[in-house]
Amino acid sequence: MSETFQAPRGTRDIFPPESDRWRALAAAFADHVSLAGYGQVIPPMFEDLAVFSRVGESTDVVRKEMFVLAARDGEAHQALRPEQTASVCRMFAQHRPPLPWKAWYAGPNFRYEKPQKGRYRQFDQVGLEVLGPDDADVDVEVIALAWRFYERVGLRQVRLLLNSLGDGPGRVRYVEALRVHFGAHLDALSEASRETLAQNPLRVLDSKRPEDAALVAAAPQLADYLSEPDAEHFARVRRGLDALGIPYQLEPRLVRGLDYYTRTTFEFAADALDAAQNAVGGGGRYDGLVADLGGPAVPGVGFALGVDRILLACDAEGAFPPPRAGVEVFVVSTTPGTEAVELCDELRRAGVRVDRAFDGRSMKSQMKAADRSGAVVALLIGDREAAERVVTMRPMHGGEQRTVGRDDVLRELRPMLDGPSGADH
Ligand code: HAM
Repeated sequence: MSETFQAPRGTRDIFPPESDRWRALAAAFADHVSLAGYGQVIPPMFEDLAVFSRVGESTDVVRKEMFVLAARDGEAHQALRPEQTASVCRMFAQHRPPLPWKAWYAGPNFRYEKPQKGRYRQFDQVGLEVLGPDDADVDVEVIALAWRFYERVGLRQVRLLLNSLGDGPGRVRYVEALRVHFGAHLDALSEASRETLAQNPLRVLDSKRPEDAALVAAAPQLADYLSEPDAEHFARVRRGLDALGIPYQLEPRLVRGLDYYTRTTFEFAADALDAAQNAVGGGGRYDGLVADLGGPAVPGVGFALGVDRILLACDAEGAFPPPRAGVEVFVVSTTPGTEAVELCDELRRAGVRVDRAFDGRSMKSQMKAADRSGAVVALLIGDREAAERVVTMRPMHGGEQRTVGRDDVLRELRPMLDGPSGADH
């Protein structure tokens, strides 16, 4: 007996109608952001390791979760992308499209995480990045596009968490203050956080370990260290969100899982999901990343939304049902000729969704298949129909069966079909 295989741990096989829903979600996102002038980019799924190292040497994403590719020479130079912001910035640094550059993307990312519901080793994101302006209005545009997208798919229980990480000298002073604060209580810190402290004190704020909770709560607040321009930038972001009526929760300890952020950072929490996996999206500003990747000093801001988690949240809230899929017409043929092959081809070329049975099955078995297909009309071709060049049209949900000329099928069919398929999203 040959070996049987299963999808790798942390991955999922997705079938219809769930796959129809995925496609509809990506299509809705494409439409949503193209309204705001974003163009799609398709970066490769792997890059030089160094591109992703810029995401943060002190992050779990880089240190523990990277799918590093084994090269033929035994040296590891490349890795599967854990996210796409770094790839988009690398694209910019390499090709230098004109600024401002507004790009969106969709596709899978890979992180070697401990799999559980809502946390996978291959997961999909839709996202966007704006390179060029450091105007706070762009931060507002980006956050608003994400917020309105959740609204568009019908999610109601999403909260926006907002913070500013500052930049420049204010940030340096804050990091130093954190180093002093945590350094004074080293014994009370978890071992993992002591290690993190040595690399990036900001990241200690992200610790979820209970033994760190008290020290994290007592840590200095970044708001007290923001420079004048950073504070003004953040105030303008908040004013913009207020003006749009987008509610937010200030979250002074929101540092996010990647190291490139400066100034505005945000995350979206879906209350319908378990707290451990309730982040359905996140993003922020990264004014130094393009330069880190060898490009010019160009600021950037963007977000990525987790498709898997958005759909889980939709399940929990009863939102975003799968679009109507399947066929409209089913051809049932009991003749040995090529009538069914020709009829299917003609109707499909005219944009009608048609399926048929194969293997010369019985009329009864084909009618069962027609029933299962969800078709509105069955087109029957028996020996008599073939000989007379006619087709019998049988409405599947009640109504008179009738026979029409072979050349009139399409015209007679039109009024029985109800327009283009697919739910509106
Ligand atoms: P991130 O917070 O690492 O940010 O990921 C964004 C979203 O992807 C998360 O909120 C979550 O919904 C989803 N996600 C992340 N990891 C997993 C996983 N293992 N399983 C399922 N879903 C997951 C970024 O990736 C940044 N590139 C966002 C960004 C864009 N910042 C600026 N521009």
